[in-house]
Amino acid sequence: MPELPEFHDRMLSLGLARVSEAAALASADFVGRGDEKAADQAAVNAMRNQLNMLDIKGVVVIGEGERDEAPMLFIGEEVGTGNGPAVDIALDPLEGTTLTAKDMPNALTVIAMAPRGTLLHAPDVYMDKLAIGPGFAPDTVTLDMPPAERVRALARAKGCDADDITVCILERPRHEDLIREVRATGAAIRLITDGDVAGVMHVAEPELTGIDMYMGSGGAPEGVLAAAALKCMGGQIYGQLQFRNDDERARAAKAGITDLNRVYTRDEMVTADVIFAATGVTDGSILPGMKREPNWLTTETLLMRSKTGSVRRVIYRTPAK
Ligand code: FBP
Repeated sequence: MPELPEFHDRMLSLGLARVSEAAALASADFVGRGDEKAADQAAVNAMRNQLNMLDIKGVVVIGEGERDEAPMLFIGEEVGTGNGPAVDIALDPLEGTTLTAKDMPNALTVIAMAPRGTLLHAPDVYMDKLAIGPGFAPDTVTLDMPPAERVRALARAKGCDADDITVCILERPRHEDLIREVRATGAAIRLITDGDVAGVMHVAEPELTGIDMYMGSGGAPEGVLAAAALKCMGGQIYGQLQFRNDDERARAAKAGITDLNRVYTRDEMVTADVIFAATGVTDGSILPGMKREPNWLTTETLLMRSKTGSVRRVIYRTPAK
């Protein structure tokens, strides 16, 4: 690949933290209020306003949906002042709208930025995902392996028994067989009701989160965001798009994808250096949620750069309105 132009990731990363913080703060009044749409809309508006203040020529490649489905932050929308580096942006202003509306753990705001043309334009279909943390040889586990074999292979690589492994899986009827097969190995399963970007990110810090592996299908856009996170934190992820009908196959064609069976590695979903920010909306194992005190609102943001492997936790306090 030819050398990519410098995208000022060092300077831009602090701006990215602001974008992520703003989306979280905007959703604060909606935590636990049962209105997913209002929470999401507030986060989208705030994220877009902040993004448009950044000196970038940005294009949303993973966003709120196709142009005709999403009024803002749609795929292809140009964001930023137009002065500055040409970048791809992947975002989810509220990853876990239901988690937010129900005040359940691990709702995040998420955004990643990378040089133009380096983030996979994943269509809004499902992706089969498999992720493990840093420190393992490539292909220690693969999507080709049956689920039980993945557990045993990871246990061998870690030098432990299968029943010392904990796997994170989205609780969905489509995962019944997967859950049964993983349980049969003796491994533990942490079921999550939503939020598989956080689910995948758990594998990068198993000591903190207790999760060794992520498996199962979820949104393909979330898969690219998770790949960006793991590129910064370390860890492997494999993703294969899943198509249920011709409409979904057409979405892939529109996104420029020709090989519908391809298994993408982390570095095929995110082909160059990336910066990533996520702010906790509700409390979770990776980030605490927003805190309300009588006069203050406080957020915590994970801000990471793959180029340096730097991981910052940015605590932001602002007067409560
Ligand atoms: P939202 O933020 O849009 O609510 O998505 C939450 C989520 O749980 C994602 O994290 C996940 O990838 C996807 O939905 C799973 O889709 P489904 O609910 O159709 O299984």
